[in-house]
Amino acid sequence: MQSSAPKATLRIHIRISLQSLAMFLLKAWRSTAFGAYGYLNFTKSGFLEHSKNFNPEDMARRIDGKNCVVTGANSGIGYATAHGLASRGATVYMVCRNKGRGEDAVSKIQSSTNNQNVHLEVCDLSSVHDIKSFTSRFKEKDIPVHVLVNNAGVLENTRVTTSEGYEMNFAVNVLGTYSMTELMLPLLEKSQPDARVITVASGGMYTAPLTTDLQFTSGEFSGVEQYARNKRVQVALTEKWAEKYGDKGIGFYVMHPGWAATPGVATSLPSFSKSLEGKLRTSEEGADTVIWLALQPKEKLVSGGFYFDRAEVPKHLPLGATKSSHAAIDSIVDTLNSFM
Ligand SMILES: NC(=O)c1ccc[n+]([C@@H]2O[C@H](COP(=O)([O-])OP(=O)(O)OC[C@H]3O[C@@H](n4cnc5c(N)ncnc54)[C@H](OP(=O)(O)O)[C@@H]3O)[C@@H](O)[C@H]2O)c1
Repeated sequence: MQSSAPKATLRIHIRISLQSLAMFLLKAWRSTAFGAYGYLNFTKSGFLEHSKNFNPEDMARRIDGKNCVVTGANSGIGYATAHGLASRGATVYMVCRNKGRGEDAVSKIQSSTNNQNVHLEVCDLSSVHDIKSFTSRFKEKDIPVHVLVNNAGVLENTRVTTSEGYEMNFAVNVLGTYSMTELMLPLLEKSQPDARVITVASGGMYTAPLTTDLQFTSGEFSGVEQYARNKRVQVALTEKWAEKYGDKGIGFYVMHPGWAATPGVATSLPSFSKSLEGKLRTSEEGADTVIWLALQPKEKLVSGGFYFDRAEVPKHLPLGATKSSHAAIDSIVDTLNSFM
């Protein structure tokens, strides 16, 4: 009896170590594959290479009179998106959290596009309460929404808790995106069959499987990992929305912009930003696929699809072992609904 106890302990110990080693190797593979794939494709040179296959006519379309709502529209990719849509005749509602920054951005776009139908809507996407009051205010306009661009996003490196008690990255990137989309559905339905929701995710999501630990409560907090997990949720949510609301005449698309030099990247990832100085895309290049998705006839697009540089691309890295995790989306949706 006495002599068998140490053997059992040893066996358990080895099994745990093998599991941790396998997880370590898998994570290392995902990061390495993502880094190499990203360096070749997500930078400016990747954009220039891919743009050889672009059809200029795709971007020559006008969308006069269509109502487009763009979140996080005062800066970076959101600003370039709002500008691109306004310059093609759309009525653009720029959703920004800061009134002053929003007003500056609206007047810059109005004067550079000569389109006066550009409006500011103030809303803090980290607050469900604020999103609810914005959407109920906005619904009073009783207008069809043709395009909702969920662009607002953050990468907060330290754990910050919002006034409503949620981890900040999750609050903006996941709960904000989810609440905004769900609450805008009645206005999107008014523009069916043309309505579309475009969510700006990130290639960083390739490194993360879907997890139900939405607020990173287990393990040491990493803002970069939390951001990647959030962006994976956006990809899985888009699939779910496409399946759930397919009969409502709304198309759901998620995309990633590659790596663009924006104020957000400079602040959240200073060493990444510095090491790729001169190699990053412009905000306009980052916004190119968002605008393309807004302009194309829906028959050309796959609802639930993940897009990059005007083409549908895979949602998973080869051997990344992230595919099966998407089965957790129903439980994630239940959690998100309980927070609304
Ligand atoms: N740039 C890249 O290489 C890259 C790569 C992958 C994915 N993305 C994604 O692209 C999107 C745009 O990012 P960006 O690079 O253009 O960064 P950015 O310049 O920082 O723009 C982010 C926008 O989101 C707004 N925002 C942040 N928190 C908000 C909140 N609580 N409520 C309302 N608005 C809020 C910001 O407003 P303030 O100006 O007030 O802060 C800003 O307008 C994000 O979803 C990001 O994850 C970017």
